Amino acid sequence: MKTVALICAMEKEILYIREKFGATLLDEKFNVYEATESGKKIIACVSGIGKVNSAVATQRIIDRYSPDAVINVGIAGGIDKSLKVLDMVIADKVFYHDFHPMSLLEEDENLKTSIFLSDKNLVEIANKSLSKMKEQGEVNNFKTGTIVSGDCFVEDDALSRHLREDLFATCVEMEGASIAQTCLINKVPFLVIRSISDFADNNAGMSYDTFSTTAANQAGRAMEEIIKGL
Ligand code: ADE
Repeated sequence: MKTVALICAMEKEILYIREKFGATLLDEKFNVYEATESGKKIIACVSGIGKVNSAVATQRIIDRYSPDAVINVGIAGGIDKSLKVLDMVIADKVFYHDFHPMSLLEEDENLKTSIFLSDKNLVEIANKSLSKMKEQGEVNNFKTGTIVSGDCFVEDDALSRHLREDLFATCVEMEGASIAQTCLINKVPFLVIRSISDFADNNAGMSYDTFSTTAANQAGRAMEEIIKGL
């Protein structure tokens, strides 16, 4: 049976999947849950927020459960101007917006790149799943593009403009690239998929408070659909 690992930064991002799949607690210390769904073994984990927490959790999950794929699912701040709150983004690539200079990663023998590419097959399945959700009116719109990650909650017009105009980011969050880097080192296929809770601008905090729970549940619903398609 295929094993798929789902990694979420926060409790609220895993809640939908946990309840829908009737997941049981596997490891209380490290917040790991287990379920069987559509003929797949699902290992779902709450990593904690940020690059270090998410990398440590990803390595632990890979070492203990040998997943065939790792999917990072949750919420993000929209950077692309065409996005609205509760739209979704599938990452075809992820990188750090706060790692300088990027060439240091490119020189690393284990990586040889600073841009981490999502698995093409997983991106295709995610596209099909979100198209279906769009047809059913469960998501208004979605985009495939670049997700950037860093160790800060972005709530600043100038930084948000920099991510858009200089890095061509579609949205920003705090774990996707570190999960992707860990997967690349371990040669495990990965995907990052996020739902927009705010616009990473000066009003991000208020928008986050209003929409983060709904966005997290929507991302969970997308995950349910993707798992069916795997
Ligand atoms: N996750 C959700 N919104 C975010 C933001 N504005 N910055 C970083 N991570 C986020």
